[in-house]
Amino acid sequence: MIDLHCHILPNIDDGAKSIDEAVGLVKLAVEQGVSRMVATPHIHLGIFDNNQQSINTAFDLLSEALALTDLNIELRAAAEVRISPEIMLFIEQQQLPFLGYYQQKNVLLLELPSSHIPPGTDKLINWLLAKDVLPMIAHPERNRELQTHPDRIKPFVQSGCLLQLTAASLIGDMGPSPQQLSEYLLKKKLYSIVASDCHSLNRRPPKIALAYDAISTLVDEDYAYLLTNATPYSISSSLFEPSSL
Ligand SMILES: [Fe+2]
Repeated sequence: MIDLHCHILPNIDDGAKSIDEAVGLVKLAVEQGVSRMVATPHIHLGIFDNNQQSINTAFDLLSEALALTDLNIELRAAAEVRISPEIMLFIEQQQLPFLGYYQQKNVLLLELPSSHIPPGTDKLINWLLAKDVLPMIAHPERNRELQTHPDRIKPFVQSGCLLQLTAASLIGDMGPSPQQLSEYLLKKKLYSIVASDCHSLNRRPPKIALAYDAISTLVDEDYAYLLTNATPYSISSSLFEPSSL
């Protein structure tokens, strides 16, 4: 399986708090059958002011620690970018790391606030698409406006955005509302991938294997495979090419 959204880089956001915890999270993922991970620390202006340099530094630290283990994992780094008008500037300056390349576009993991869909979101998405950037909306099932009005996912889907399901939402760890919306979107087959969005060993560990089983039961095993293997493989393959090392 392939995990394209996880906060395993140490001391860079609200994810892993130490190298040991970072390695522990990777170990848990490997035990569930994950063989490729793309670490996606937050880039959230004023909250987590990460950039390529801070991400690369944390990535190198974790890579060095993993090299001392026997864990069989391929690791790359990108980011989870909180929606803001400044994204346009960052894109123009080529400052944002992408999850990969898919449908002839660079894929950007884009996070909405949990409370609502900010006005202008549709315009920003159209602007990104015109720049050959394909937004992947991180865990839409956790957005309270979408929980109340599931039909408001339509403009995202119609514009071509990808949707990422967080495993813990489907398992029920985030409460009944994210679980209900994730089941609704899964039955309509609107998600492109499922990812762990893991943050910590105790509070938010990776649960992608449980999500695979839940999707197999709720929809079918072909869709579970698509969301955990085939599609994340295609999206991230450009990151794992030898030339990208
Ligand atoms: Fe996240």
